[in-house]
Amino acid sequence: NWTMENFIDIEVEKIRSKVGDKKVLCALSGGVDSSVVAVLMHKAIGDQLTCIFVDHGLLRKNEADMVMETFRDEFQINIVKVNAKDRFLGKLKGVSDPEQKRKIIGNEFIYVFDDEADKLQGIEFLAQGTLYTDIVESGTETAQTIKSHHNVGGLPENMQFELIEPLNTLFKDEVRMLGVELGIPEEMVWRQPFPGPGLAIRVLGEVTEEKLEIVRESDAILREEIKTAGLDRDIWQYFTVLPNIRSVGVMGDARTYDYTIGIRAVTSIDGMTSDWARIPWDVLEKVSTRLVNEVERINRVVYDVTSKPPATIEWE
Ligand code: XMP
Repeated sequence: NWTMENFIDIEVEKIRSKVGDKKVLCALSGGVDSSVVAVLMHKAIGDQLTCIFVDHGLLRKNEADMVMETFRDEFQINIVKVNAKDRFLGKLKGVSDPEQKRKIIGNEFIYVFDDEADKLQGIEFLAQGTLYTDIVESGTETAQTIKSHHNVGGLPENMQFELIEPLNTLFKDEVRMLGVELGIPEEMVWRQPFPGPGLAIRVLGEVTEEKLEIVRESDAILREEIKTAGLDRDIWQYFTVLPNIRSVGVMGDARTYDYTIGIRAVTSIDGMTSDWARIPWDVLEKVSTRLVNEVERINRVVYDVTSKPPATIEWE
């Protein structure tokens, strides 16, 4: 008789007997999978677990604080937070090609993680949030990928650790159920997908601090309004993008020449195909008004009404 409770008991026992009194490392991103792994591992082996959380400066508003509050303060998990913003932004300077941005961020993540892991002593295991579907999909990956999907958290293959993958028999919805059972806050368990390269692929072209700020602030406003409207569980993904467009506007009695912000919101089952979400016009109106009034340098708001295919969900 298989239940989530049983699953937890069985996994905890398995982890304990595998790990013994050794130490385990885990890369925590704040996404559902790595969060569930961290809490499950912590339940099994407590302080023998250390998590590394890399803040690459490309996260959403308040995201890093929320991760630390939830997992360090509430769950009391050992977490090393690495403030690597300057490192990442330095490497991204002058780079505008999307695939190159992804590559740089994926590689830099590995270097940062490696550096931090080197500082820790006596670690023998690495816990990862690999799902059943991850295993199945990588087996059927086509040679021609449309975008390289660096799941930041993809770690160096030559690392000296033995892997522990406690979720590798589960599907995504089971992982969410497990997360709820483990007491992880609902808003983290039901988080929309967020790409590893983060806001870097939502600032089109070169990433600058100013542009990141615009996309971060506007994203926060959109998320707030979608939640207020009660649409957050119906829409698969919703975010803002900053294309390299400036246009003429008028504010007060002055001419402006400022950025256009795009809203992207899609319904989907698995991210492979998607349709644009039919957000009620009054919600869009509220978002638009707030974006222009509250975020500096925005004077125009557009809504993306393309499905995937032919478009993709992200703009880069
Ligand atoms: P696209 O834009 O290809 O996105 O339609 C499909 C899903 O994948 C996410 N995505 C990424 N996730 N690293 C990730 O971890 C990436 O480089 C990346 N690019 C896209 C996207 O947010 C959507 O959920």
